[in-house]
Amino acid sequence: MWQVGIIGAGGIGSAVARRLVPLGAEVRMANSRGPASLADKAAAIGIVPVTVEAAATARDFVLIAIPQHAVAALPPGLFAQTPADTIVLDANNHYPIRDGEIAAIEAGMPDSVWVAERIGRPVLKMFNTIHAATIVDGGHPKGTPGRICVPIAGDDMAAKRKAIDLAEALGFDGLDAGPLAESWRQQPGTAGYCRNLDLPAMRDALAASQSDLVATYRAEALAKARAMTAEALARSRA
Ligand SMILES: NC(=O)c1ccc[n+]([C@@H]2O[C@H](COP(=O)([O-])OP(=O)(O)OC[C@H]3O[C@@H](n4cnc5c(N)ncnc54)[C@H](OP(=O)(O)O)[C@@H]3O)[C@@H](O)[C@H]2O)c1
Repeated sequence: MWQVGIIGAGGIGSAVARRLVPLGAEVRMANSRGPASLADKAAAIGIVPVTVEAAATARDFVLIAIPQHAVAALPPGLFAQTPADTIVLDANNHYPIRDGEIAAIEAGMPDSVWVAERIGRPVLKMFNTIHAATIVDGGHPKGTPGRICVPIAGDDMAAKRKAIDLAEALGFDGLDAGPLAESWRQQPGTAGYCRNLDLPAMRDALAASQSDLVATYRAEALAKARAMTAEALARSRA
């Protein structure tokens, strides 16, 4: 079974871990505060708490699931010891309200191209279009009508095939979403972003995305996130 390193123990990292551990995967998880702070999570989910350095040397996959801005704070050379065959997955989305302005992205660089450049290692963009809660309880057996699709963008075809197997094991249809340079097709606010589309609908959504509208899509996603936060706040005060 897989050995998976997860950098980030928040919503998305924990959701993937929650699904992988029962499958028999060894999940090494790291956060910003060190392994001791992950003791409760180890007891509850069965992850192995480790340092970010140990998570980055996992054998099969390393999932980066930290806020986009925090990628710049990862230790320099973190991926130098990562085995050559290990597939690095990037679940990040750039939200300027959380991450601040990142000039290269603001100028049009896809979020995950920026991550790959920062860490000095190719990545596959995966798990950025699906809510953490949906990873936990939205998986279904292959062939289930409407099964949710997880698009995977990147340049290494063999790695993408393995990542599609990973999506499959978690109960989702993995879809090759093209090269990393086109991963803007699945960024915040695009037609396939967090809408739980099935594979044919996701394929259409990716094809319909327009590169000149990337900033507009992101602004719309931000407005939606703000509205949802305001709504939740209002509900909690009612
Ligand atoms: N949540 C979702 O449903 C979802 C879905 C798709 C994509 N995403 C994207 O996935 C990324 C992570 O989101 P999230 O919701 O999982 O975040 P989150 O719940 O805020 O958790 C962030 C995690 O990152 C860790 N972290 C921060 N800086 C770090 C560093 N320098 N080194 C190691 N760990 C660090 C934090 O450590 P501590 O625990 O020590 O604070 C925390 O465990 C974001 O880009 C987000 O947009 C999220």
